[in-house]
Amino acid sequence: MAKQTELMNQYVADLGVLNVKFHNLHWNVVGERFKPVHEYVEELYDMIFENYDEAAERLKMLGEFPLASLKKYLEVTNVEELDEKDYQISEVYAILKQDLGHLKTLATNIRSAADEADDFATVALMEDQVDAYDKELWFIAQALK
Ligand SMILES: [Fe+2]
Repeated sequence: MAKQTELMNQYVADLGVLNVKFHNLHWNVVGERFKPVHEYVEELYDMIFENYDEAAERLKMLGEFPLASLKKYLEVTNVEELDEKDYQISEVYAILKQDLGHLKTLATNIRSAADEADDFATVALMEDQVDAYDKELWFIAQALK
């Protein structure tokens, strides 16, 4: 398996786990500004779910099988899941910053590996996704000020 496809399966697994983790934050965030943060986290899980599907479909186009079970995701993921409890807004932003930063790094590494393999479609896909993470990381940095 080429290096970028191995990394892409890592990415698919992390996104699959983060879809659940972000729902946890969406449901369990508390505080005075509950509603906008609750809705913001919904936008984020919608975005990563889209990225998850696009990365998996790109793997299919490359002739690979994307990982497609929660069991396998938990075997390979680098994402740490959270307990069911109340989360303060500042905690939610700190967690989002860490996880989106991780996704940005991984997507950047996939982009570089794909570039080395002249896999330009994967390069373009990952550049778009890195761009989107950058924007969200900026929103979060502003919120944390
Ligand atoms: Fe919801």
